[in-house]
Formats: sequence, C-alpha cells, structure tokens
Amino acid sequence: MGIEAPEVITTRTLFRPTAAALGPALSPDEYEHEFLQAIAEAVRSFRTPDEPLPDVVLADQAKARRYFAIDGMTHSFFAKVFPSCLMNVAAKCPYQDVRREIIEDCYCEEITDPDARDMCHVEVLYYDAGLLGLPREEVEAFEPSPILMTCVHTLDNLTKTLPWEGGYAATGGLEALQVAIARGYLAREEYFGAYRQEDIERICGLPEGSLMNQRLHAMKDQLHGGGALSILRKYVTTRESQEMTFWAVKLSRQIRVITQREQRRLARAAIGLPADALIVT
Ligand SMILES: [Fe+2]
Ligand SMILES: [Fe+2]
Repeated sequence: MGIEAPEVITTRTLFRPTAAALGPALSPDEYEHEFLQAIAEAVRSFRTPDEPLPDVVLADQAKARRYFAIDGMTHSFFAKVFPSCLMNVAAKCPYQDVRREIIEDCYCEEITDPDARDMCHVEVLYYDAGLLGLPREEVEAFEPSPILMTCVHTLDNLTKTLPWEGGYAATGGLEALQVAIARGYLAREEYFGAYRQEDIERICGLPEGSLMNQRLHAMKDQLHGGGALSILRKYVTTRESQEMTFWAVKLSRQIRVITQREQRRLARAAIGLPADALIVT
C-alpha cells in the first residue's frame, strides 16, 4: 500500500489565515498602527533601488527630460486601471459610506480634481509628460510591457477575488503610503528614491513648481488613503479579516515596487542606458 493521497490539495494562492497565529481582534487604534507598519515593512522588505542617474544623463537636459517623462508616462497605465480596481471594490461592498468614499476618490482620478486645476489624475500625468517634452500622442500610444501588464492585472485580480475589505486594503491601502510617510512610519526617500519633484525640475531646467503629479499626490493620497484607513478601521473588526487586509496591503505595495522598478528600467532603455532586465536587489 502506498501513502494515501489527501482528498483535497490546497494551495496558498490567496491569503488563508493560520488559525494558531490568530489572537484576539485588534482595537481600531492597534489596527491602524499595524496597517501603517505593514506598508512600511512591505517597502523595506522589497526595497526600491535608489541609484542616482549617471552624470551623462544629469549633464544632458534633453536626456534627463526624456528619462523622467518616460518614467511618468509608464506610470499612466497603473493610473488608468487603478479606478477600475477601486470600482470593483465598491461593486462588492454593501455599505454606502464605503462606496461614497471610493466614488469620491474615483471622481478625482477619473473626472476632475479642483486641487489639480480641474484635471483628472491621468490628465495630470499627461500634463507633466508634456512639460518634459513628450507629445501626448506618444503617451497615448504607450503599450505596457509584460511586467506592467502582469502587476497591474494582479492588483485588479485581488480586487475581484478578495472580500471587499481585502480589495480596499490592496487599493485604497496603496494611497495610505502617504499617510505612513506623514506619520513617520517610513521616510519619503525609502519609497520614492532620491529625486523629488523640485530636483527633477532643477535637473530638467523647468520652473520650480511646474510639475504637478508628485506634489498633488503627496497631499491627495493622504486624503484618499486616510479615508480608506478610517473605513477599514471601522469595518475590519475580526482578527482574521484584519490579517487579510495586512496581507493584501503588503502584497499590493510590493507589486507597486516591482512596477516602479520596471518604469525606471523602461525610462533607462528610452535614453540608451543599459536596461535589459528587471532591476532586482
Ligand atoms: Fe486617489
Ligand atoms: Fe491619484
């Protein structure tokens, strides 16, 4: 007689709580702390390389402009799909206050944002790319690389397959990165790297304050991410669902680190720097 095969083979394709590891439910304050901690841990465990650009780029304004324009342009694919992911969550959620929060976020992302001169957030990326010399037609024609497709569709899949709380942690939880930064859970440079918007303007010879996207999101993601956090702390009250949301926000943040590396790789390739593989540290 051979060893009897188990009747059911399970996989770890999605979060499954380990019963033994589950303690009592965390209080809302403890939950919020752990959630922000999870974001910081995800960034640190899967660190974005923070290589300074070579002098040959820093000394050549045309090259530098193209590098930062392509970096921004390739981010537009994520920015276009992100509201759909949020809407997947809203479609599943029975609570009106949650759906309102999500719709308000999507309104800025998709329709108009008074804090962005009434542009929606994808338009803001197009605007910045234009300032850096990238024509709108080139931005529109951009085809996402396989890595960008894989990462963004994984995020989309999480919002379709997880309960709404997990899906919201994976999406609205991404915006809470700026809350984690504002509250000192991690330093801005740990995720965004060396070049702040004002550095990019200086390197590229643009007037200070002309680029919009980074500054807008430093503020707006605190608002949207803070809204998501207040919803999650209200509704995610069992230990199992709390652990699921920590798992979801960690995974989605790590996926964003991969997309960010891929954006930089594509930007490097666009100006002729060596860029033949996904940068992994
Ligand atoms: Fe947002
Ligand atoms: Fe946005």
